[in-house]
Amino acid sequence: MKLNKKLITVAIDSPAAAGAGTQAKLIAKEYKLFYLDTGKIYRYIGLLKLNHAKKFNYKFIRKKIKKLKMSELSKKNLLSEKVAISASIIAKDKKIRKIVQTFQKKCAYHPPKKYLGSVLDGRDIITVQVKDAMFKFFITASLNVRAKRRFHEYKLLNKKITFKEVLKNLRNRDKSDKKRKHSPLKKTKDSILINTTKLSKKASFKKIKAIMDKKIYN
Ligand code: C5P
Repeated sequence: MKLNKKLITVAIDSPAAAGAGTQAKLIAKEYKLFYLDTGKIYRYIGLLKLNHAKKFNYKFIRKKIKKLKMSELSKKNLLSEKVAISASIIAKDKKIRKIVQTFQKKCAYHPPKKYLGSVLDGRDIITVQVKDAMFKFFITASLNVRAKRRFHEYKLLNKKITFKEVLKNLRNRDKSDKKRKHSPLKKTKDSILINTTKLSKKASFKKIKAIMDKKIYN
């Protein structure tokens, strides 16, 4: 089997907790791609707003994003509902989205040399950030299943939150992400739908891998 020389770009859009992050990590590992969870950048800015309310302006955000290290994005302090809600509020701001865009495009089109390409997941990756991606997946699952998965993750992290709260927050975030004016979450016609409601992680990845292998190895 021969690998195409071209940079492999994978763009994934999805509502929260649909399994996009899990699939993106599996894709990254399988095809040696650089992975960026773009939601973490919005969460990082959402946390900046919560922790530095007085200093929080575009100049401050720009400075922080310029110096942003990937290690910041894997910190546990980004994994709370409070931060997720703050992220979806600041994500409506056109100027903030523009600041984040430069960082994302660099990761997508100029990943570190050791990688064969990139995989980005978020809400506007196919529609705005990596419009010409080699692979475009829209990953989704029912609200109830997503809430169950997120609730389980919180339990493992010992977070004190009820299932009802998780469900309500996800519903609100879905609404906010889909109805906002700038870069709303939507499925494009040219993206492949992967509904993980009744699929295991393994079964979802099998579907994705079959699609990718067909195009990459020829
Ligand atoms: O994916 P995650 O749930 O961590 O994203 C947190 C929030 O960041 C989302 O609810 C959304 O409002 C925002 N976001 C976005 N565009 C992206 C990724 C995330 O607006 N590409």
